[in-house]
Amino acid sequence: MSKEQVKKRIEKLRREIDRHRYLYHVLDKPEMSEAALDSLKNELFNLEMEYPELITPDSPTQRVGGRALDKFGKVTHETPMISLFDAFSLEDMDDWEKRLRKLTARKLDYYAELKLDGLAVSLRYEKGLLARGATRGDGRTGEDVTGNLKTIESIPLKLRIPSEDELREIGLKSGQAKAVLRAIQSGALEIRGEVIMTKKVFKELNRKYEKEGKPVLANPRNGAAGSIRQLDPALSAERKLSFYAYELSTELGLDRHEQKGKIAGLFGLRILNENKYCPDLSAVEAFHDHWEKHRESLPFEVDGIVVKVNDLSLWPVLGTVGKGPRFMMAYKFAAEQVTTKVKDVVWQVGRTGTMTPVAVLEPVRVGGVTVSHATLHNMDEIGRLGLKIGDTVVIERAGDVIPKVIRAFPELRAGREKDINAPEFCPICRSRVARTAGEVAYRCVNPECYTVNLRRLAHWTSKGATDIDGVGPKIIEQLVKAGLVSDIADFYDLKEGDLKPLERFADKSAENLVKAISARKEIDLARFIYGLGIRHVGEEMAIALAREIGHRISDIKDIDSVVNVLRKMTSVDLENIEDVGPIVAGSIYDWFHDQKNIKVLKKLEDRGVAIRKQRTENRERAKLKGKTFVLTGTLAGLTRDEAKAKIREIGGSVSSSVSKNTDFVVAGENPGSKYDKAKKLGVKILDEEEFIKITNSRI
Ligand code: IVH
Repeated sequence: MSKEQVKKRIEKLRREIDRHRYLYHVLDKPEMSEAALDSLKNELFNLEMEYPELITPDSPTQRVGGRALDKFGKVTHETPMISLFDAFSLEDMDDWEKRLRKLTARKLDYYAELKLDGLAVSLRYEKGLLARGATRGDGRTGEDVTGNLKTIESIPLKLRIPSEDELREIGLKSGQAKAVLRAIQSGALEIRGEVIMTKKVFKELNRKYEKEGKPVLANPRNGAAGSIRQLDPALSAERKLSFYAYELSTELGLDRHEQKGKIAGLFGLRILNENKYCPDLSAVEAFHDHWEKHRESLPFEVDGIVVKVNDLSLWPVLGTVGKGPRFMMAYKFAAEQVTTKVKDVVWQVGRTGTMTPVAVLEPVRVGGVTVSHATLHNMDEIGRLGLKIGDTVVIERAGDVIPKVIRAFPELRAGREKDINAPEFCPICRSRVARTAGEVAYRCVNPECYTVNLRRLAHWTSKGATDIDGVGPKIIEQLVKAGLVSDIADFYDLKEGDLKPLERFADKSAENLVKAISARKEIDLARFIYGLGIRHVGEEMAIALAREIGHRISDIKDIDSVVNVLRKMTSVDLENIEDVGPIVAGSIYDWFHDQKNIKVLKKLEDRGVAIRKQRTENRERAKLKGKTFVLTGTLAGLTRDEAKAKIREIGGSVSSSVSKNTDFVVAGENPGSKYDKAKKLGVKILDEEEFIKITNSRI
């Protein structure tokens, strides 16, 4: 090839490489593989090696060309790189708008942008060519990081020159379009935006670093910011960073902020397509809420939105105060990482007996909801974190996934923290725990453990016991699997944020479930006793026990007082209760002398589960005390004996014949002559439904 031919070939290669770079890194619509693109770059590189005089600064080969520096040069920003004020609620935003209204009577509308979490940089293009890139620094003076920024493929080394028509199409007036074209062709342009690392690149890099035994990156933000401020461009290149433009800081005489993004797009810069015009704050709120909820689906991390007054003629009117401008506001999302304390570590037993440690946390708000549990995976993870019970920790809840403990702060220990030991006995059934050789996991060897516990938990929430709406066996199994519930007291620790990561839990159902559980914190004594699932203690037996306790203490206040009474009763005391034989007595006695059960009862008490005050019910009951009932006909739902038992339970008595002294006649199907007599005497007749209602007001 002649030199002239080489020159032509080089120009064509550059154009083609740049086109594919744009498709791949700006539009995310690659037409060919990275390997194919590399091979084009390779050809260009070889030609340039042969003819170094043909190298230009905007050649794609110049992206990784820079040598490592000793020090960055200083750059003074022509317009200072400002910081932003933060808002955390709609109220904050309303206050902001009110402040703006004091300064202008003009209609306010907004442009809402995603707030990328990376590093702010300013790019200076002279005659359309990338001349310099700088960090924010202190806002006035930053560092010259051009070499590093050139490694970012979404930053064009040369801006695309839009046609005047294209500029007119996005709403620019003729004069404005001309000013833009002048700036790009013969003047200077300053473009600002964020350098970020995508979540995908972050994951891949960390996987690679881990394999190579190198320190892993803490988060994508550090991955981006850290490498741009390193002196070796090769490191930036390795990090595969991206750049999104959000500001044209050169004065171009534009009308609306919204136009800047569109112009940047025409220049070939990457912009956020999610950004949106918002006619008022309620539209801003909808944008904020939408992305707070769906931020997981974005390929990069965002920590909020930036809301900008759209009318650019207002910017100088509103001005800047302190650290930032009045015409912009960062409206933050709820933090995804917070610190809290580990109160305890419990071992959750899975279907196959595998035991997983779960950190019980001091409840804390993270990512907009409250959580009280975080997974710890296994003993190795606990070792890696160096975690002790009582430690202050950082937890992270990214989207609707189970919160994780990210790190512990040994520096903050007070000396009372406790080591976390591998379990020796299963916390549920107290079988021995085994560890299979070569496995990290400990397991409970009792094959029944898991199912028995599931049944026990489901019994507690069942209709006859606490009757918690919506907490059936399926949900319970989910809760157990997630390590959220292992005994009945754990239900009362659940927080909305614990439930959201679970399958089938939309926001609403998580909220409803927490409410339903809390609504049943107060419980009738008989239902409470029944719910404990003591062997041989069915609903009737529980009623008898509750009545006995009622005789022994006049004012049942709390679980503690009930437990005290029951623990003081001997087997003989128990056997004296109607229908209680030695086997039942033994079972009750054993249950209330088992430390594991006492611990759960104490936990229930601590979580505010209480025995319902008797007074109102007593009054109800008093009304029926001594009343005489007569039964006639067949009841559909219960036998004669059951009906009699119910009447006695509420303090009434049963008589076989109707007289003036009869208070109620309960009439089932095909009632006999007693019914007619009752009518004649004017005795109140109850049908089955009414009767059930009356007798269901339990102790
Ligand atoms: S406007 C150079 N718009 O948020 C300051 N900032 O908390 C320009 N950021 O330092 C402010 N997305 O790094 C602006 N759409 C956006 C942004 C954005 C992310 C960052 C930027 C700034 C920080 C302020």
